[in-house]
Amino acid sequence: MIQKKRNGEELTGEEIQFFVKGYTEGSIPDYQASALMMAIYFRGMNEKETATLTQAMVDSGETIDLSAIEGHIVDKHSTGGVGDKVTFIVGPLVASVGVPVAKMSGRGLGHTGGTLDKLESIEGFNIEISKDVFVNNVNTNKLAVAGQTGNLAPADKKLYALRDVTATVDSIPLIAGSIMSKKLASGADSIVLDVKTGSGAFMKTLEESEALAKEMVNIGKNLGKNTVAVISDMNQPLGYEVGNANEIKEAVEILQGKNVKDLRRLSLEIASHMTVLAEVFSSYEEAYEALEANLENGKAFEAFRSFVSAQGGNVEMIDDLTKLPKADYHIEVKAEQDGYVAEIDAESIGVAAMYLGAGRATKDDVINHGVGITLKKKIGDTVKAGETLVVLHSEKETANDSRDKVKAAYTIIENAPTDTTLIHKVIK
Ligand code: URA
Repeated sequence: MIQKKRNGEELTGEEIQFFVKGYTEGSIPDYQASALMMAIYFRGMNEKETATLTQAMVDSGETIDLSAIEGHIVDKHSTGGVGDKVTFIVGPLVASVGVPVAKMSGRGLGHTGGTLDKLESIEGFNIEISKDVFVNNVNTNKLAVAGQTGNLAPADKKLYALRDVTATVDSIPLIAGSIMSKKLASGADSIVLDVKTGSGAFMKTLEESEALAKEMVNIGKNLGKNTVAVISDMNQPLGYEVGNANEIKEAVEILQGKNVKDLRRLSLEIASHMTVLAEVFSSYEEAYEALEANLENGKAFEAFRSFVSAQGGNVEMIDDLTKLPKADYHIEVKAEQDGYVAEIDAESIGVAAMYLGAGRATKDDVINHGVGITLKKKIGDTVKAGETLVVLHSEKETANDSRDKVKAAYTIIENAPTDTTLIHKVIK
């Protein structure tokens, strides 16, 4: 197999299944798997090979059976961003028109935050619910979020760790297979992918992001799940808040009708595709209009309140956002020159938030839910020297490492930037 792929030949279905099974069970050693990953990195895989690899990784472990949930379940997945609180808006929004959202999520590591950590900013919120409670909550409220349980796609876990140390992560068929194997094992009927592009994303260029999006959509289709990918910009964090409690606050404000432009627009985009896939609406335009109305008439907010309450969260914190955890110190970081903001390196902002305690450098770090970062300027805004770019919400009086990191994250130029596109493409 290694020799065939090295020479650019196609692998058969049986060969791919043999490899995935053998590697997961330990009969194929790391050194041979590394060589095969490197051969795939250089030679690529066609659509059929990629679909077979993905299915084999799904079959390597458990799959979640969500058949006890009534209705068409649509999952949503982001390839990873900073300030990405879209799930907290899209979940209740989609639930508000009757589409079930059964979301299995993870914790944050490094510069990206985790959905579960952010939800735990709400006092009492419980993500460790049993399968029965999870299913019952989705049937009653149309929305539940739980920590990932079960042994989903163990082949991917092992291969991803190997790729990480053999310079073979950034291969499009391997990334696409890795992400889709976990999504397919999670039991949804359809999937909407938010593929990020830009300096803060895995894929830095639109071409690479589009290639990844197409590959994932094809895998979904080949394996019988309707899949849509939205390619969205990550040349700056999404919205104005990065952290945990402050991200919940910003999401709730959108659910209460506030217009934070990029965040509201992207949430409506993703929710529209989800509800069209669930066949609640017959067109994107119809979906968009109905969902926008539910942000304004309070129905989406009500769905969020019911969801928080059903998982033991203190709803008073949602009704009065000042009750969410807060940091003691608020340190302003100021601009040193006049001009326009051209870019805000999302990864650096994520790292700065992690230094404050909003994220984890290692798996065992404990999150501080009240700390984080508020951006005061975003791409396209004018800036004067001495104006505040960012506020650091800190537990300590000084936070020099975070301050230096956010200062370096901002690119300020003389003339207004021309490209501020948020949604680059939709791949179906
Ligand atoms: N995320 C994944 O889950 N897998 C990859 O290969 C890359 C990013």
